[in-house]
Amino acid sequence: MNIVILLGAPGSGKGTVAGKLAADNANLKHVSSGDLLRGAVAKGTEAGLEAKGYMESGNLVPDALIARMIKDVVAETTGDVTMLLDGFPRNLAQAEILEEMGAPIKSAVLIDVPDEIIQDRIAGRRTCPKCKAGYHVKNLPPKVEGVCDNCGSELTIRKDDNPETVKDRLVVYHRQTEPLIEFYKAKGCLKTVDGMTGVDSVAAEFLKVM
Ligand code: AP5
Repeated sequence: MNIVILLGAPGSGKGTVAGKLAADNANLKHVSSGDLLRGAVAKGTEAGLEAKGYMESGNLVPDALIARMIKDVVAETTGDVTMLLDGFPRNLAQAEILEEMGAPIKSAVLIDVPDEIIQDRIAGRRTCPKCKAGYHVKNLPPKVEGVCDNCGSELTIRKDDNPETVKDRLVVYHRQTEPLIEFYKAKGCLKTVDGMTGVDSVAAEFLKVM
């Protein structure tokens, strides 16, 4: 098993690209820290109860909480698999924790999208609560409005996708997550793709550079 880290602002397309690549390639596994946390919140586990307030305000949950979840997924992933790690690490401390887990990091790929585009991307996002498929009302609409193409569930809007919280999430991204770009550049494994070219083209470029 090895790991490809997805870097990029909220709404830059990390989940969309990783979901598409994993659906098309049997040896790619999409692991989203946000989905793990939202799953824990929905189940009302101890970790979920602790995470909920941080997530709704757009702040990062404590490092130890999310690191435990990622450690479990890394430990249970074996064989000829590349893990597309979406949303972790989110700061330098988490990057060090990931190094300590010992799984080989193949690359860190930044999906580059300017801040001005992020509000529109997130305002139009719709998510399937059951199968986690992601849509956009204009850029990636479902066949039937409000209904998931894959499983027929009613699409929902994430609680943290309101304009005020998105502003806060961008501040957190620039302060805490962006330093990872230099961190992985210094390690010689940073790649960058233009996130403005449409979902299929971003996914193809990502697969090429990763
Ligand atoms: P998380 O779920 O990780 O959210 P995020 O990083 O803010 O990223 P998003 O899921 O919002 O965006 P995305 O880049 O996946 O974009 P998407 O593909 O959906 O985290 C949520 C919260 O959990 C955090 O705020 C924090 O509280 C907590 N958390 C998570 N990980 C943590 C950690 N490691 N440490 C501490 N706390 C943590 O795309 C967005 C929209 O754009 C979609 O509608 C899509 O259809 C559309 N789109 C995508 N690509 C394109 C394209 N190329 N062209 C046009 N439209 C596109």
